[in-house]
Formats: sequence, C-alpha cells, structure tokens
Amino acid sequence: MDFFSYRQQALFAEDVAASSIAADYGTPCYVYSRAALEQHWQAFDRAFGAHPHLICYAVKANSNIALLNLLARLGSGFDIVSLGEMQRVLAAGGRPGDIVFSGVGKREDEILAALKAGIRCFNVEVSGELDRINELAGQVGVLAPVSFRVNPDVDAKTHPYISTGLKENKFGIDIDSAIHEYRRAAAMPNIKVVGIDCHIGSQLTGLNPFLDALDRVLAVVDLLAAEGIKLQHLDLGGGLGIRYRDEFPPSPEEYVAALLQRLGGRDFEILLEPGRAIVGNAGILLTKVEYLKPTANKNFAIVDAAMNDLLRPALYSAWQDIVPAELADSGQELEWDIVGPVCETGDFLGKGRLLKLAPGDLLAVRSAGAYGFSMSSNYNSRPRAAEVIVDGNSCHLVRERETVQQLWAGERLLP
Ligand code: LLP
Repeated sequence: MDFFSYRQQALFAEDVAASSIAADYGTPCYVYSRAALEQHWQAFDRAFGAHPHLICYAVKANSNIALLNLLARLGSGFDIVSLGEMQRVLAAGGRPGDIVFSGVGKREDEILAALKAGIRCFNVEVSGELDRINELAGQVGVLAPVSFRVNPDVDAKTHPYISTGLKENKFGIDIDSAIHEYRRAAAMPNIKVVGIDCHIGSQLTGLNPFLDALDRVLAVVDLLAAEGIKLQHLDLGGGLGIRYRDEFPPSPEEYVAALLQRLGGRDFEILLEPGRAIVGNAGILLTKVEYLKPTANKNFAIVDAAMNDLLRPALYSAWQDIVPAELADSGQELEWDIVGPVCETGDFLGKGRLLKLAPGDLLAVRSAGAYGFSMSSNYNSRPRAAEVIVDGNSCHLVRERETVQQLWAGERLLP
C-alpha cells in the first residue's frame, strides 16, 4: 500500500496534505510515513514465521532517532557502521544486545565503546581488526562476539558504487582467507565466534545474486562445522531493492522464502540488515519551485532543495519520481530539468520531467526516505532540511530545520 497518494487533486502523506506540512514546517522538508515504515519492517519480520531471526535495520539509510525509536518499539535490531550510529541507536531506545557492527575501518575507541555497551556482534572485515578486538576485549575483560564478513565474489548487478560483494571491492574477507581467520579467532582467548556475514550490494532487484552468495556462505559454514567451529547465526546483510521507477524487486516475503528454502532445514538464526527496503518508500522530500527558467535549449525549474539535501541523483544519476503536491487542471505540460540552487552543474534532482509548473508550486521527490537526509550536507552553507513523521492525521516535527548559526557553531577565529 502507498501511504503517499492523491485525494482529489492534492497529495497526502497518510491523512495529512503535503501542502499543509510545507505551510507548517517550510521547505525543503523530509516527510516520513509511520505506517509505511512499520509495514515495511513487519513484512521482513513476519516472512520468517517461526524461524529464528532478527531484522537489524541498517541505520545508515536514515538515522533520525524518532524513526529508530519506532523500529526499536517493534523489536528491531540495528546494523551500525560507526560509534555515532551506535549512540543514536542507544539514544533512541535500541537494545545494545540487538546491535551488529559492520564496517571496514572500526577505530579503537569505537570497538571499546561497543564492547562496553555489550553489542550483539562485530562483523569483522579485516584480519587486523580481529587482533584489535581480541586485545581490547582482554583489556575490558569481556568475550567479544564476532562474525566474519565474507566477500563471496558475486555480481550484485547493481550500480558499481553500491556493489560490494566482488573481489575487487574493499569489503569483507575472501572465502579462502576466511577459513584461516575463523581458525585464528577460535584460538583467541577473548573472542567468541558466533556467526558469519555477507552483504553484496544495495538496490538489488533480482534474487539470484543473494542466493549465489548464500550458497557460498553455506559452503564456508559446512567447512567450519567439519573443523568443529559451530556458528549460531548467518547474517545475510541488506540490499533488497525498491521500486523507484519500473523496477520489479522481489517482495520481502519472496526474498525470505527463497532464503529459507535454500537453507534447507538448517536451523541457524538468520539476521538481515535491510535499510532501503524499509525506509526508502516511506519518505518524500518536499520542495518549492523558486523560479522557472526556460532557455533556448532547456527548461529549468529551480527549486529550494539541492544536491546537498538529496545527493543520489547527482552521485549515482539515480532516478526518483518528482510529482506535484497539487495536480493542476490548467497550464501547459512541459519538459523540465528540476535543479537546485547549488553552484554545480551536477546539482539536479531530476531531468526531463513532464510537469505543469508555476513559480511557488510545491513538488515532492518520491522514494526519498533512504539515503536522503542521511547523505545530506551543508555544502554552500545550506542548513539541512527539517524532518517530519506523519502518523495518521497527526504530524510530528522530528528534526528542526538547521539554523545558519549552527553551521559555524564549532568554528573559531584566530586570536
Ligand atoms: N549492511 C551493510 C553492511 C551495508 O553496507 C549496507 C548498505 C546495508 C546493510 C543496507 O543496504 P540496503 O538494504 O539499504 O540496500 N547510498 C547508496 C546506498 C549505499 C549502501 C551502503 N551499504 C544509495 O543511495 O543508493
């Protein structure tokens, strides 16, 4: 079900008109639907039925603490990649024992803080990281739970910038070295081997790469079992794609059913780390048309959101739908490049969009809940957007628009 839809001519987020959100909180403004968020998380959770599992939402997709809190209330675990993300999860009421820590470059202070918090598992990606965790766990006097992120060398068939499971990528440990690392880990005094992990990329729209990766992970699991190294969980990462335009990704139900079938009765607990599939289509970005600038070659609609607010179009040439908040009866439909005010030619939200536009119109960029606000910046000294969560007919401001003063709050003049 789509929680952003038209009633008569007006775009609504659940039961609240987009135009009234813009009037109350200004633009640019991210708007998330609580119902969509919860439904998407529950789709993963329910698909497992009685099979032991934990859905660890990938915090990087959208790390607003109100959103993390809603997921924690549902019983979500969390996949983090930094101390900052861990602190957000804890501030949002997430349980430390349901946190897995991914990432290729964990610093000492990050590992120490995670050990002290008592997280569920470190997903180890570098040989030296294992030694570092063992040493720090010894200092703290705890047993560190680890799993290795293996790089299964499968092609996720997605954008090269978000493909992570090929041997030329920096992520994970190749399968042959992984066996060696597991043997080392099993012999370390302060390490407890608990699982195995892989994540091959993001915005995957087919099942085969996931299943190929699982086959390769299972081959390692069987080899380890033969050596007496028994694992409790398999973490299969995130990556399930969403529909931006005309993609047909498998549903969470289809995806989980295929995984369980391929597991063939093995009773490992399964962890997943979905980000985009939970929050991507639970959010939109509202932006106002400032000026229309028709030129001899192109028509530009200059809006008040820019690449600093939503980087995906500029960085990956990502296509996200752009729709009007009010459907106009009159006016001429023209092809517009929807561009921001930032001083870069790459600053666009969409190109060649057929729209009836007038200055002052409100537009919504769809599918903006994932990797939208979380990748935003202050480039061009632009304060970051407000964030709002709609819940039925009520609207909650969950992040105030940044002020210009906040931008230089930590800066100092020379004496
Ligand atoms: N687990 C790990 C270890 C990851 O690196 C990622 C995403 C996820 C889980 C969540 O993946 P998801 O379910 O969201 O596909 N900025 C890019 C996406 C980068 C994804 C990075 N890793 C974009 O806007 O398309």
